[in-house]
Amino acid sequence: MALLHSNKQLRFAGVALISFLSCFTSVFAGTFEVKNGNNTCIMAELSANISVKYILKDEQMNTVLVALPDSATVDNSSTCGNATVSPLLVIHFGDGHSLSLNFSRNASDYRVDTLSVTLNMSDSAVFVNSSVKAPMTVSSSSTGIQASLNTTYRCMSVTTVTLNNVNVTFSNMRVEAYLPAANFSKEATVCNADIGTSTPAPKTTPVTTATTAPPAPTTVPTNPTTGTYNVTKSNETCLLAKMALQLNITYQNKTTVFNINPVTTVASGVCDTNVSTLFLRDGSTNLTFMFVLNDKKFYLSEIGVATSDGFAADNKNLTYLRGTLGRSYVCSAEQTLTVNSVFSINAFHLQVQPFGVSNGKFGTAEDCQLDEDNMVIPIIVGAALAGLVLIVLIAYLIGRKRSHAGYQTI
Ligand SMILES: *[C@@H]1O[C@H](CO)[C@@H](O)[C@H](O)[C@H]1NC(C)=O
Ligand SMILES: *[C@@H]1O[C@H](CO)[C@@H](O)[C@H](O)[C@H]1NC(C)=O
Ligand SMILES: *[C@@H]1O[C@H](CO)[C@@H](O)[C@H](O)[C@H]1NC(C)=O
Ligand SMILES: *[C@@H]1O[C@H](CO)[C@@H](O)[C@H](O)[C@H]1NC(C)=O
Ligand SMILES: *[C@@H]1O[C@H](CO)[C@@H](O)[C@H](O)[C@H]1NC(C)=O
Ligand SMILES: *[C@@H]1O[C@H](CO)[C@@H](O)[C@H](O)[C@H]1NC(C)=O
Ligand SMILES: *[C@@H]1O[C@H](CO)[C@@H](O)[C@H](O)[C@H]1NC(C)=O
Repeated sequence: MALLHSNKQLRFAGVALISFLSCFTSVFAGTFEVKNGNNTCIMAELSANISVKYILKDEQMNTVLVALPDSATVDNSSTCGNATVSPLLVIHFGDGHSLSLNFSRNASDYRVDTLSVTLNMSDSAVFVNSSVKAPMTVSSSSTGIQASLNTTYRCMSVTTVTLNNVNVTFSNMRVEAYLPAANFSKEATVCNADIGTSTPAPKTTPVTTATTAPPAPTTVPTNPTTGTYNVTKSNETCLLAKMALQLNITYQNKTTVFNINPVTTVASGVCDTNVSTLFLRDGSTNLTFMFVLNDKKFYLSEIGVATSDGFAADNKNLTYLRGTLGRSYVCSAEQTLTVNSVFSINAFHLQVQPFGVSNGKFGTAEDCQLDEDNMVIPIIVGAALAGLVLIVLIAYLIGRKRSHAGYQTI
């Protein structure tokens, strides 16, 4: 793809975009796939907001924000490549605009070598009064999108790549190139922004600390509203979840408890044979729930969270919400799903079925009470044994005291 520049466009090169976009509206997550015959080589699932600075006819600067629309498609210039051509994903959107990701690999990693955006400046519906009409292509080779081979690059957080006068802000991103199978690899390379701790914020000086306000008292909101979320695969519902969620985050010495609002929450996800993932995005809060199916039993194996203020937590070793394939797990009582010492989820009115959903409906309910009942028997047996030991001990002590008393009277 040739870089097209007019004199006016070259003027953009010097323009640095300082403003960081922190306010997003209608971010859409789309799935894009590049195939060679039946072999998938690139899969991408992402939301992108593209902010473009351009010069108006009156020489003034203008900035427009274009969200990657629902209608975005994989352009047929995309390719899996070969020995000399590297894999390329071109996402076409709107009236002649595109977003391209060019991949490369070595023995251990793959990365997005070049991210480029081509904009049709003649699209006056988007670029109102643009002084430039020729298409504009900008690119960057420092994308930060890099992962180990055979893993999915995952970045739920908001990250921005600057390409001259264009800023591309990604969120809810999962990308994989050189795929070993027809779907995302189960293993993931999680971006630094999601891990959060890998780039510690600069320490504040004691002076600054002294002037910061004391932590606000934690206010517990009212119980959350129940939402129904589903994930589809080839038009069929493959994961169903009904739940009311409350998040409890301790970050920067402050505990915040807040509810997920089903009205503003967007659900997406991926269903595979043995792994089903549900992503929930409420504003700038991103949640990941990964379910695993093993020997006809499912469980929630991973919970991840990322918020726009830089908090992120993830635990891949969970065994919550255990149920049977083809059935749904139900728990009406409040449950606390502890992810780690700084993050937990309070779940109310929960019903999930991550596998074997038929006709878009929940299967037979398996109440979480069953789990508790299963625990009751060992507890009763244990308590009975403990009681027996106690009785024997008391009897022995009384007996001993009596005999002592007996000896003393003699
Ligand atoms: C692709 O898959 C279809 C159906 O699964 C099969 O009929 C076809 O032969 C496959 N093509 C190649 C090139 O493997
Ligand atoms: C660019 O936009 C104009 C106006 O909307 C349209 O006529 C033209 O076909 C577009 N160019 C491309 C390459 O799609
Ligand atoms: C592959 O490339 C990455 C940087 O893109 C580098 O960190 C890594 O060491 C390279 N690995 C090998 C085996 O060359
Ligand atoms: C990736 O997976 C493929 C197929 O499963 C395998 O041949 C290859 O060695 C793996 N590469 C790495 C770096 O793990
Ligand atoms: C999905 O459903 C839509 C309409 O509901 C239909 O047009 C489309 O062909 C279906 N796709 C598949 C893969 O079944
Ligand atoms: C939130 O988490 C903290 C620390 O784990 C705990 O002390 C507190 O009770 C929790 N609050 C709610 C409402 O769950
Ligand atoms: C949190 O509190 C501890 C002890 O009160 C203090 O040492 C630390 O600097 C605080 N951290 C932040 C980010 O405020």
